[in-house]
Amino acid sequence: MSVLDIKVIPDPVLRKIAQPINNINDGIVKLSGNMIETMILAHGAGLAANQVGLPVQLVVIDASLNPREKEHIILINPVIVETDGEENAEEGCLSVPGYYEYVKRAKRVLARGTDMNGKTIEFDCEGQLARALQHETDHLKGVLFVDILSPLKKALFKKKYSRKNT
Ligand code: NI
Repeated sequence: MSVLDIKVIPDPVLRKIAQPINNINDGIVKLSGNMIETMILAHGAGLAANQVGLPVQLVVIDASLNPREKEHIILINPVIVETDGEENAEEGCLSVPGYYEYVKRAKRVLARGTDMNGKTIEFDCEGQLARALQHETDHLKGVLFVDILSPLKKALFKKKYSRKNT
């Protein structure tokens, strides 16, 4: 396994719409292992394939958020099929280093995807896992958490980030 390079804004790959995975081949198996290793080393709660430069529909989420198996979650072609309620909590992203802000998300989600064996898996959850699933599936649509901040917070982010990068 190897550690991958994490792309940060404004890398255009973060804005790409990820392609569905139709064939879980050795490349995908290897990619998911490398993404897990990369996520652990970077102390991230999750990682989407866009973030390592490959716009395919694959996300990994840290085991600490998995209520069932206590194993790292690998989800292929994930979709949020139901949402309920609303919750405001702080988020960060490995592709937006050093920035944390409160983001409104659905409180509960039902997410569906396939595992590495091509078997359908579902997570009906709240809290941090529900938030991570929304954050990571957004990545696959080219959406970052800073895109869904309130207009005021978004303006403050742009100001802060442009200053940092110049
Ligand atoms: Ni992220």
